[in-house]
Amino acid sequence: LISRTLQNDLVVPSWTQFCNRIKDIYVKCKPISDGKVADYIPQLSRFDPNLWGVSICTIDGQRASWGDSKIPFCVQSVSKAFNYSLAASDLGADMVHHFVGQEPSGRLFNDICLDTNNKPHNPMVNSGAIIVSSLIKNTWNMADRFDHMLTEYRKIAGGEFVGFNNAVFLSERATADRNFALSYYMKENKCFPEETKNLSEALDFYFQLCSMEVTCETAAVMAATLANGGVCPITEERCIASRPCRDVLSLMNSCGMYDYSGQFAFHVGLPAKSGVSGLLIVVIPNLVGIALWSPPLDKMGNSCRGVAFCKELINNFNFHTY
Ligand code: DON
Repeated sequence: LISRTLQNDLVVPSWTQFCNRIKDIYVKCKPISDGKVADYIPQLSRFDPNLWGVSICTIDGQRASWGDSKIPFCVQSVSKAFNYSLAASDLGADMVHHFVGQEPSGRLFNDICLDTNNKPHNPMVNSGAIIVSSLIKNTWNMADRFDHMLTEYRKIAGGEFVGFNNAVFLSERATADRNFALSYYMKENKCFPEETKNLSEALDFYFQLCSMEVTCETAAVMAATLANGGVCPITEERCIASRPCRDVLSLMNSCGMYDYSGQFAFHVGLPAKSGVSGLLIVVIPNLVGIALWSPPLDKMGNSCRGVAFCKELINNFNFHTY
């Protein structure tokens, strides 16, 4: 960052101006009072609906944040994007897509359904994410698999805070009837790799990845790693191979926003992934990673302030891909 600054070669040269415009959008979205905080587990329902944080990180490592950007929360479904990227970096895209498709399901994220090849539709719905996590280091023991993913998340986050919320993990596991039903259905249809012998363990790993904790600042760096082709802009370390990085952005574009993905791709035209904790990451390839966090969710399960911010961003800048 310092050498690029000295060479006057930054991807956003007029940083203060850019930040002022982002701040205006942040302020404009603050009074929004729509939506409802997720309450399927008590740990999520306890979040104050007024929390609102925005962080940005460019591919040169220029950073800024507004509001509640230092409060930890769980990544939830945003983990699905990183788990897929890491699985495909490790095993190759072909191997991963032997087990999971690339098509929007057109169904709820936790629907019990498979595609015409008897695979989960894509890695961004629960079924696909459970299968993807079951592919990751699946000959290792549970402790080593967890440590591996924590280490990889921290690399992608350039050393920013990544934690683990055990209470969320335990609550997810205690209220997992749908995910168990999904998994038994997939077992019946031979969706799992043969290494997966124990469904409870497979689901534990999936819940552990949902229960990883980040802040908005962390998530912005993680999004920036995706914007930067898989190389973390803070450490300049390659964390995700370039092909899986391209692939995950394609999947985020078509499937990252639940049943709002088509409309989001139409109106905003940027790859994004949301989670039930109210996190929404948006990637502007070769420019910037954006993390938006506000717990109240709309009917589709996306953060109300997060989606409003994205629409306003597109009204203000010509970032829409098309
Ligand atoms: O698997 C679940 O039910 C949740 N932990 C998923 C989290 C989420 O954000 C919804 N996802 N697609």
